Amino acid sequence: MATGPTPRASILDIAPYAGGEAKIAGVAKPIRLASNESALGPSAKALAAYHAAAEQMFRYPDGHSSELRRALGRRHDIDPERIVCGLGSDDLIHLLAEAYAREGDEVIYGRHGFSIYPIVAMTVGAKPVAAPEKNLTFDVDAVLARVTPRTKLVFIANPNNPTGTFIPRDELKRLHAGLPKSVMLVIDAAYAEYVVRSDYDSGLELAGSQPNVVMTRTFSKIYAMGGLRLGWSYSSAAVADVLNRIRGPFNVNMAAQAAGVAAVEDVAAVDRARAHNDTWRPWLTRELTALGLELTPAVANFVLVRFPAPPKDANAAWDFLRSRGILVRKLGVYHLPEYLRITIGTEDEMRAVVAALKEFLGKA
Ligand SMILES: Cc1ncc(COP(=O)(O)O)c(C=O)c1O
Repeated sequence: MATGPTPRASILDIAPYAGGEAKIAGVAKPIRLASNESALGPSAKALAAYHAAAEQMFRYPDGHSSELRRALGRRHDIDPERIVCGLGSDDLIHLLAEAYAREGDEVIYGRHGFSIYPIVAMTVGAKPVAAPEKNLTFDVDAVLARVTPRTKLVFIANPNNPTGTFIPRDELKRLHAGLPKSVMLVIDAAYAEYVVRSDYDSGLELAGSQPNVVMTRTFSKIYAMGGLRLGWSYSSAAVADVLNRIRGPFNVNMAAQAAGVAAVEDVAAVDRARAHNDTWRPWLTRELTALGLELTPAVANFVLVRFPAPPKDANAAWDFLRSRGILVRKLGVYHLPEYLRITIGTEDEMRAVVAALKEFLGKA
């Protein structure tokens, strides 16, 4: 019997990434709080730049995203030569695994860490090693205890999705200091712009000074450009060189580059999005806590809510919210079946989710 080409064996063990649901049959415009998208939508300046770029679509884009890297360099006061742009930060996370890990290696991440990390490890045939967490928070000691001569990469999302928790600057430094120089530490700071804590560090300083640290960032969250797929990394020049060798030559399309430049320069739009989040995340937290639900302390644009035992459990709450046209995220794949993750949306969306959960819990 003829057999076709076979992929690397570990690839067939991957459970494909499942994004947040976007549709409810029969509901024209569901309230979408399942993918941590920004409540306020993109900057008007980014939209205008996107439209203006359309005229040039017959041209190849700048394969180096030069203008965008310069804009990011100015904004963050960093060297554009050490920035690499990608198709969302997912792209860069995949490239890092491809470049630095292979069959027989190990890749460590937190047990409730972003689900792309085990996927990229298995893509290259490496073993994903989930370190236990403490209070749903990345545990530096647990990770360091799992480092072996085979460890090639450590991934931390800071703040983490879906838990919403973070580790402070000192802990991040302690994590790096405890790792062998041969291990690459990837600090995924997808939600960095939302964090207003003074003890928070996106990883900029470590990525700028240490040869084995990469920080990844995205335009999908506070910049509200998830549909365009745009992310970037900051690292040593040597790591940037490696990523530039293996990325797609024209990986970032021209509309994304143009919108990205405008978005980075529209500081006021980011400030508005952050201020909105700083109003409505505490509001939602207070309202849901008052309903008797347990919320994990959060610093990004979503909350993690623990539901009681059946019949008022997370699955039942998810079904009920859906019946009211509201989509939130179930977290079984994150080993958090008793929780739901709810993105901070507009004022109306936040009031709708609270009203629906009041009804669900019989407290309306
Ligand atoms: C922690 C974390 N990292 C990375 C990403 C991927 O973002 P991007 O859209 O840039 O690929 C997400 C998106 O949900 C995320 O939550």
